[in-house]
Amino acid sequence: MTTFTKQAEHETPVISVHPTRRISKINPNIYAGFTEHMGRCIYGGIYDPGNPLSDSNGFRKDVLDALKDLNIPVVRYPGGNFCATYHWLDGVGPKDQRPSRPELAWLGTETNQFGTDEFMKWCEVLGTEPYLCFNFGTGTLDEALAWVEYCNGTGNTYYANLRRKNGRQEPYNVKYWALGNETWGPWQVEQMTKEAYAHKAMQWAKALKLLDPSLILILCGQDGTASWDYYTLKQCLLPAHSALSTSAVPLIDMHSIHLYTCSNDHLPNATAPLAAERAIEITSGLIDLARIENGVPPNQLRPTICFDEWNVWDPIRAEGSQGAEESYTLSDALAVAIWLNVFVRKSRDVAMACIAQSVNVISPLMTTTEGITKQTTWWPLYLFSKYMRGWTVAAHVSCGVYEGETSPAWLRGARDTPWLDVSATLGEDGYANLAVVNIHDEKSFEGVVEGVVGGAEVFTVTAGDVMATNMKGTEEVSVQESTWDGKGPYVFPKHSLTLLRWKAE
Ligand code: AHR
Repeated sequence: MTTFTKQAEHETPVISVHPTRRISKINPNIYAGFTEHMGRCIYGGIYDPGNPLSDSNGFRKDVLDALKDLNIPVVRYPGGNFCATYHWLDGVGPKDQRPSRPELAWLGTETNQFGTDEFMKWCEVLGTEPYLCFNFGTGTLDEALAWVEYCNGTGNTYYANLRRKNGRQEPYNVKYWALGNETWGPWQVEQMTKEAYAHKAMQWAKALKLLDPSLILILCGQDGTASWDYYTLKQCLLPAHSALSTSAVPLIDMHSIHLYTCSNDHLPNATAPLAAERAIEITSGLIDLARIENGVPPNQLRPTICFDEWNVWDPIRAEGSQGAEESYTLSDALAVAIWLNVFVRKSRDVAMACIAQSVNVISPLMTTTEGITKQTTWWPLYLFSKYMRGWTVAAHVSCGVYEGETSPAWLRGARDTPWLDVSATLGEDGYANLAVVNIHDEKSFEGVVEGVVGGAEVFTVTAGDVMATNMKGTEEVSVQESTWDGKGPYVFPKHSLTLLRWKAE
C-alpha cells in the first residue's frame, strides 16, 4: 500500500519506505502470462516447427529462454475470444488426423497442430503452470467435464485413458479453470446476458467441482466497475452449503476482470493504469457486498481477483484480426510499470494477473523467423518479476500531481495522478525494493528517500524521448544499472522507472 500527500510543484518530493511494515503477501501469480490462438502468438511465436531456432517439440528455444528470465508462474490458454468456438478434442491425438476449422474470433483458420498436450509440454519446458479457459460459446458442459477428466483424471475412465493413449500417463493436475471469457462482449460468439451467464456459470461450477473439488474456478467478470460484476458476484458468491452447491467447497474461487489502457498522449497513457487500481478497489467492495448480502460465513475463503488480461493496447492502432502487433514506446513502458505498481499495491486483493499476451500479440516479446526483439515494455516486466516479490510494504509519497486529461475520463474525478508513482516490497531475501515511476516528460525530480539503509543498487529504464521504441532495429530502451550511496537526495530522471534495492534485514 502506498499513501499519498499532494504537495505544491516547487516542494521537494519525499518518499518514505517502511520495510518492516508488511501489508500483504504478493502472490507470485501477478506475473502470469497468456498465450492465445491469435495472430502469431502460438504459430510463429511459441511454436515454430521446422525453424532451426526450435527444439524437437517445435518450441522456439529463443522464446523459451527469454520467457524463463521472466520467471512466469502461470500461463493462461487457449484464449481469450478464441475459446468461444474452440473444441479441445480437435487439438489432441495424431496431428495428421486433427481437423482444420474456420476460426471466428480472429477470422482465420485453426489447424489444431498445437493443442492441449503441446501446451502442457510447453508449460513443463518453461517451468510454469497451466491455466485453461472453457468454451462458453459453442461448447457444452459435457465437453468441459471431459477436458477436466482428460487433464486431471486418474481413474480407468474414457478421457483419462484417451490422454494415456495420446502418450501421457500421469495427470496434468490443472488447477486453474476459467468459466468463459468476456461472455458479456458483443464481439463474442454466444454473447450472454448477465442473468444467463450467472445461471450457466453456477450450473457448470457445480458439476465441475463434483468431478474435482480441488479446481480453482474463475468467474468471468467485466472490468470491475460494471453492473455485470455486481450481478454475477451477487448470484455466484454463495455459502458453500447453499442449495446450488452440492459440495462443501465454495463454487467460485476468483473473479476475473480485464482492462486495456491507452492514449496517444503520454500523460493520459502513463496514468491510465490507475483506473485499474480503482477497478480493483470497486471489485473488492463488490466481493464483500455479495458475501454480506448472501450471508456467506466469514470463515469461508474470500474470493480473490484474477486480472487475467491487462496491458497497453489500442485495438484501432493494432487490430485484433490483423494480429494486434503493437509497437511499444517508452511511454507504454512507463504505463506497464504503473500497471505493475498497481498489482503490487493491491496484493491483498489480486491473486493473479496475466499480461495479454506473452508473445507477438500486444506483447513485450516479438519474434521473426530469425530471432526475437524485447520491446520497451519488456524491461519493467523483467525488473518487477525479478525483484518485486515477497510482501508489499508501507510507503508514503509526497509530491506534485499531473492535473490534465485522463484516459478514461472518469479517472480524473476518482483519484489523484501523482508525478511519482510508487510501490515498495520486502523480498524473502531481506532486500527492500522501491519502484518509482516519474511520468513527467520534462522534469526530473530531486527527492528525499527515507528508509534506505546504507547504499542501494539502482536499475533505471528510460530513454531520450517518450516515443522511443525498440522496434526500429535498435534497442533504445533497456535497463541501466548503477549504485547509490543512499546519502542526500536522489534524482528521479524525467520519464523513467527507477528501482532501488537495498538490504533491509
Ligand atoms: O488479448 C486479446 C483479446 O482481448 C482477447 O482474446 C479477449 O479476451 C480480449 O478482448
